[in-house]
Amino acid sequence: MSANLCPHFPSFGSAGAPFSATILPMQKQRLFTGLQPSGALHIGNYLGALKQTTELLQSAEGLVMIADYHALTTLKDPSELRENIAGVVRDYVAVGVDPKKAIIFQQSSVPQHTELAWILDCLVTVPFLMQAHAYKDKVAKGLDANAGLFTYPMLMAADILLYDTDIVPVGADQKQHVEYAREAAVKFNTAFGETFKEPKEKILDAVAVVPGTDGKKMSKSYSNTIPLFGTKDEIQKAVMSIVTDSKAESPENVYNIHRLFRDREELSALYKENKGKYKALKDALVEDIEAVVGPMRARRESITDNDVKAILADGGERARAQAEKKMADVRNKVGVTI
Ligand code: TYM
Repeated sequence: MSANLCPHFPSFGSAGAPFSATILPMQKQRLFTGLQPSGALHIGNYLGALKQTTELLQSAEGLVMIADYHALTTLKDPSELRENIAGVVRDYVAVGVDPKKAIIFQQSSVPQHTELAWILDCLVTVPFLMQAHAYKDKVAKGLDANAGLFTYPMLMAADILLYDTDIVPVGADQKQHVEYAREAAVKFNTAFGETFKEPKEKILDAVAVVPGTDGKKMSKSYSNTIPLFGTKDEIQKAVMSIVTDSKAESPENVYNIHRLFRDREELSALYKENKGKYKALKDALVEDIEAVVGPMRARRESITDNDVKAILADGGERARAQAEKKMADVRNKVGVTI
């Protein structure tokens, strides 16, 4: 029996079928991912999400979003937000997202996201949202969570569901959010009929949780980051601050970052040769990071303010057209159109 050439369609033309095999065109997978413009990107963002995004975009259709409304849950400085939004556009292009193929856009330029988020909010319960890690962590620290942080998962679900997304390349910390998006799709489809695809997270084991300079997950909020597009001096400063245990033979925290930049065999030879020489190993790590980041940094510096504006104008228009098509169906199904 012939194999099913296209995973998105049932296998036609199997034994006994009254017609010969029809080869349907391969449908491209649809990818969606997002970054909050809440500060400078770090190598955890790059390795966990952006690198695989650019690789997947070689064969998938995709949208990459600047999650500016999500950033408002924490950032209250308009000029910083503006600067960060432009920065994320540059970051996307610098790492290799082609704005002519993929859609690069700002969340706030597509009002259908907040519109759908409201509808999804009305389908889920407060206890369901209370399970979200970001909300629980805030409460566990004794801090007041704003309502935006509480409903954050439904805005993210709206981001993903509006575009019939198949895959969401992210780091492990976003797994629960993609699960929320799937749950929201099921709840809507059950209540109003088949409308949304159920998206899947794409998390790569080796880089699911990139460690920071203290060995914990690299995160802006832990101040343990190595900046992706810092100057070489800034990268050097961050690498030199990696916490090492003076009694250990090999600096584990350095190695755990280094193994993401060099293959295992080369690395074990290097670490054997430099037993106990932490400075030499950190210098080698700086050079290995620089070899990856240097060309991307140069590309980033060549992107002008006008390029950024043009990319956002074009991306916003293309994203709105797709989102509006979906929302017209959603409005009709929930009954707000008469
Ligand atoms: P954000 O801006 O916190 O992070 C952006 C991406 O970087 C990944 N990441 C990491 N991966 C591995 N190791 C780390 N140490 C590490 N730190 C961060 C994150 O997993 C993420 O993939 N809620 C999202 C933004 C968002 C979004 C979306 C993402 C809004 N809507 C729709 C995907 C789809 C966020 O805050 O990511």
